[in-house]
Amino acid sequence: MPPIYARIIATGSALPERVVTNADLEKIVDTTDEWIHSRTGIRQRHIAADGETTGDLALQAAKNALEAAGVKASELDLIVLGTTTPDLIFPSTACLVQHRLGANGCAAFDVNAACSGFVYALGIADKFIRSGQSKKVLVIGAETLTRMVDWTERESCVLFGDGAGAVVLEACDEPGIYTTCLHADGGHKDLLYNPVGVSVGFTDEPNHGVRIRMSGREVFKVAVKTLDSLVEETLQAAGMQESDIDWLIPHQANLRIIEATAKRLKMSMDRVIVTVDKHANTSSGSVPLALDYAVRSGKVQRGQNLLLEAFGGGFTWASALLRY
Ligand code: UT7
Repeated sequence: MPPIYARIIATGSALPERVVTNADLEKIVDTTDEWIHSRTGIRQRHIAADGETTGDLALQAAKNALEAAGVKASELDLIVLGTTTPDLIFPSTACLVQHRLGANGCAAFDVNAACSGFVYALGIADKFIRSGQSKKVLVIGAETLTRMVDWTERESCVLFGDGAGAVVLEACDEPGIYTTCLHADGGHKDLLYNPVGVSVGFTDEPNHGVRIRMSGREVFKVAVKTLDSLVEETLQAAGMQESDIDWLIPHQANLRIIEATAKRLKMSMDRVIVTVDKHANTSSGSVPLALDYAVRSGKVQRGQNLLLEAFGGGFTWASALLRY
């Protein structure tokens, strides 16, 4: 039997209509556009409207991707959705999206790997396709992270945004995805977490304590170091070198972290997709939003090699090296 590969046949994305600029945030917390932009690269973020959910954004991104792929929802045999802000505790957001798409019957589940959620979901979907279990798979990364932001805390509220991205994968006899690398280390939990879950800290009080807690400077240091070794590992696993990569499509948390990874890869910034200025950190939404932007703007072309990477709470970190 010849090997089976998973190939991205189309991408899609969705952003809430409301845009909040750094100047808007200057009015509610003690911050400046200059501080936010120079420390993070962020200029603005999209924020979900009241009642607009992660599932709504995921659905729109999925419809975009399916339309671009020319694939009907009924043809899907798996939906994997990365999120850390699901609509409900259960059913999974993947199930809610599956029903709204009319893809009933196929397997559907969420993956919670914080900001690495989409790349984790892509890695899992790749294994389903390689094993012959699935032929057409929808992979989504979607978040409404601003719902758990403390708007009085300037250290974190300026960093996040809402959004979703999706890809349709198909079984193919040529790559496709060459390799994915998924990792976690729960030992750093206290550096980046939300203290409220179901069996810890749960109360009937609306939004009680549901807030992102982050030690930014420490997370920054670990992220740069970890991504450095992740790209090394990924290149080795695929049997490639830096010069084989056409585009770096990184997690969009901080432009300085992105620049450090680009430097490690000896890539000039014009081969790096940057959307952090427009979207801020959308967690699981960030990599597929950047990928969809890169495809639809005509930057990324068929046949090019893309390196996707992400780092987030857990800690989790993950990469995918693929031919688009
Ligand atoms: O996606 C998951 C992974 N997350 C990340 O990768 C985030 C990683 N961390 C970061 O991106 C950066 O650490 C931050 C952007 C969060 C912070 O940047 P920094 O350069 O590490 O700043 P800092 O935390 O060291 O703070 C420097 C100063 C402090 O004041 P003092 O102590 O020097 O007087 C802060 O109080 O900046 C102050 N500060 C602010 N000033 C204006 C913190 N937030 C703000 C703000 N506006 N919004």
